[in-house]
Amino acid sequence: MPQTQASLPPIRSARPAMTQEMMERTGLSDAVLTDLVHGFYSKVRVDPVLGPIFAARITDWEPHLEKMVDFWSSVALMTGRYHGAPVPKHAGLPVTWGHFERWLDLFRETANEICTVEGATHVIERAERIARSLHMASQDARRQAGNVPSLR
Ligand code: HEM
Repeated sequence: MPQTQASLPPIRSARPAMTQEMMERTGLSDAVLTDLVHGFYSKVRVDPVLGPIFAARITDWEPHLEKMVDFWSSVALMTGRYHGAPVPKHAGLPVTWGHFERWLDLFRETANEICTVEGATHVIERAERIARSLHMASQDARRQAGNVPSLR
């Protein structure tokens, strides 16, 4: 018997067909992205370079982790679940490109541990692109504040 509209499960994606195709192609899912985010931030939090930057700004980790799962669900699977604005949150951070490289090293390591090869490639490509644009935004903010940009 065909399902009626009322008995269908709630739509979890703004673009269900695309999301389905991406999940099949990459092996990524809510469960995998949750493991990726939790695994990644457990490394970040104890990292001597990045840990203190996060610890000074995030006291309650649960909402941050939930937000980051929504972010990765939006970025990797186009579900539209994340509605925030990352640029202003990074513009004032005391970071150079070296910090982003460290962030990316830990992200690549975790993605390769948790995802399929296709899934890891998919999320790493997106992380690299976003890291470059967040770095540029943080440099622009510094320049506007009258400081010399750091090339390190
Ligand atoms: C040097 C590297 C990075 C550092 C130190 C850093 C640090 C932070 C901190 C401290 C926050 C919390 C800000 C707040 O709530 O006030 C945050 C939020 C966030 N970060 Fe990063 N981050 C880095 C790189 C990245 C990269 C590469 C991405 C994406 C690929 C990313 C995505 C996000 C997102 C989506 C949020 C949530 C923004 C919101 O509140 O909606 N971050 N980050």
